[in-house]
Amino acid sequence: MANKGNIANNYGSLDAVFVSGKGATLKDIKGKQYVDFVSGIGVNCLGHNHPKLVKALKKQVKKQIHISNYYNSDMGLAFAKELLIATDMKGVFFGNSGAEANEAAIKLARKFGSMNATNGKERKTIVTLQKSFHGRTVTTLRATGQDKFHAESFAPYPEGFKHIVANDYDSLKVLDDSVCAVLIECVQGEGGVNLIDAKWAQALQKATHDCGALFMVDEVQTGIGRTGTFLASEWLGLKPDVISLAKGIAAGIPMGACLFGGKATDVFVAGDHQSTFGGNPIACCAGRVVLSEVNTPQFLARVSDAGEKIINTIKEWDLSCIKEIRGKGLMIGIDIEQSAPDVQKWCLAHGLCVSTAGANTIRFLPPLIITNNEIEVGLRIFYSALTNI
Ligand SMILES: Cc1ncc(COP(=O)(O)O)c(C=O)c1O
Repeated sequence: MANKGNIANNYGSLDAVFVSGKGATLKDIKGKQYVDFVSGIGVNCLGHNHPKLVKALKKQVKKQIHISNYYNSDMGLAFAKELLIATDMKGVFFGNSGAEANEAAIKLARKFGSMNATNGKERKTIVTLQKSFHGRTVTTLRATGQDKFHAESFAPYPEGFKHIVANDYDSLKVLDDSVCAVLIECVQGEGGVNLIDAKWAQALQKATHDCGALFMVDEVQTGIGRTGTFLASEWLGLKPDVISLAKGIAAGIPMGACLFGGKATDVFVAGDHQSTFGGNPIACCAGRVVLSEVNTPQFLARVSDAGEKIINTIKEWDLSCIKEIRGKGLMIGIDIEQSAPDVQKWCLAHGLCVSTAGANTIRFLPPLIITNNEIEVGLRIFYSALTNI
């Protein structure tokens, strides 16, 4: 059914048409139910049809859907204030996606580099990690440290990016007075669910600051409680100057945010960067509900517990086809012998949505509110997939 409509076939979408959902359970057009271990690729953090979110959005739709950034909205002002308190940052630019949040961060870094020229030379280089992923715009593709995203057909790409090896202390030598910023993910999502060593990340942050550059963290996938703390940079012991957020930030209403503090606080001035839809009152309303639900110690502890339950259960299966399982909170990667797309298709046919992160890696990013029962049902289907393929 998918790919037969008029939507551009850029996604190679699977054969399922969903119409509704509740919690971490989805229903397709034929009424068949699925356990959702994808949550719109880490977006529906409150699951589907969350009563508080639906109620708040219904109320907001009647009040105001959009207002130009010539002005402010009450929702925009309130959400910005609450988000900055939650993250201990000083300012925020609202966009509509993760790539846009990173584009804002990149522009901010480049301007910072111009304002802080060393020995008469402007700092223009942004350092990112190999195996990283930062978005699909031409510049964020170039920031991404994976060759497969640098197809010649889309060239030329903007200059000024270097990719270093994560968890390698020799990599830090690249930091010199040509660098305006370092941008990392705390757990690389699209690159295969790769964890970053906390000590190395802290050394990278220190070396970045010592060389006079900004330390920026792409929390598009890891932020908003996904890894068991509100920001993943918290458990890595990092204090970034710039943080990009998107995905779960508004539980499914499109939104991205570039947050800044420290030396990055006063870089942007009026006219530097803008967006027509950015900070839309509907998205900000959803963001406020997400903040109030997710950013509590009990909720975040439950995310960690649920993630451990999944990892421990899979380890107990002791299946030889499982090569490695790793993750943090409800961001989990499982390296398997089988083709990940084949397992993904089998699971879908049997009522479970899973994601992939490479040819042989299955990725789980369930809604953060997933129940123990939904986890058990989903894992039973996953076990059958691994033992039948
Ligand atoms: C770490 C990271 N950064 C940026 C992006 C791009 O986000 P979007 O697809 O909302 O533009 C993604 C998307 O998967 C991501 O995982």
